[in-house]
Amino acid sequence: MYTNILTSHTNGITTITINRPSKLNALNKQTIQELHDAIAVADQSNTSKVIIITGQGDKAFVAGADISEFSNFSIDQGEELAAKGQELLFDFIANLGTPVIAAINGFALGGGLELAMAAHFRIASDTAKMGLPEVSLGVIPGYGGTQRLPQLIGKGRAMEMIMTAGMINANQALAYGLVNHVVTLDELLPLAEKLASKITRNSSIAIGAAINAVNACYEDGVNGFKTEIKEFGNCFGTEDFKEGTTAFLEKRKADFPGK
Ligand code: COA
Repeated sequence: MYTNILTSHTNGITTITINRPSKLNALNKQTIQELHDAIAVADQSNTSKVIIITGQGDKAFVAGADISEFSNFSIDQGEELAAKGQELLFDFIANLGTPVIAAINGFALGGGLELAMAAHFRIASDTAKMGLPEVSLGVIPGYGGTQRLPQLIGKGRAMEMIMTAGMINANQALAYGLVNHVVTLDELLPLAEKLASKITRNSSIAIGAAINAVNACYEDGVNGFKTEIKEFGNCFGTEDFKEGTTAFLEKRKADFPGK
């Protein structure tokens, strides 16, 4: 069904693997569309509670946007490339109600790091290398990198990474707070699945509300505390809230209907 990605589904977890290893999983137009479609399908399904995104092979998560596709673009085409990509994939993931974990298994460069940063959190293998090398190509990050990198690691560090176009290793990324955990490559997907599995036990409705409230912190002109109050109140009208509180009082595990 897809050409450039693989999808699998077990125990409420959908794993999407970007599968263009001969091009280090670079994001061409078709891959961006396929990722959008697969993520939308998972988000709309009742059985998918967490999405893991990773790259095929042991070398790259994603080595960036596909440079061969845009090297002769005009100003307008460049702007459209960034706008469409952000709408279809990067903002789409960041604002998704279903949690998305990026499992970074190698190079995450340019659009690859931007994809990982759009996910709700990141883990990495100790072989991973991350960077935003765009200025070495005469362009800047266009898939949200200039905004999400400073949000995640602070302005000074982001400025240094963007200006030098350099790469940091997994331990540096861990020290910066760019990734939450670093493990060996063999342990990467098992850890992603373990974290995902913990998430699946909780109320997916409450998790979606929490994502909205946390994201409000980074939106211009939005009062995050007000968003939190609204989302908190909305939870009281859900079946998940009734089940969660009842299960606690009855000293049993909650079985959330996800409604
Ligand atoms: N776009 C298109 N193709 C890419 C790519 C990208 N972002 N990154 C890698 N590739 C392709 C290479 O062109 C090469 O294809 P080929 O075998 O048909 O020539 C293949 O993937 C393997 O890459 P190669 O450069 O030979 O691997 P390497 O181990 O020598 O170097 C990197 C690895 C990641 C350092 C290097 O590929 C690189 O710098 N990639 C570009 C990173 C970048 O600037 N990304 C930001 C884009 S905005």
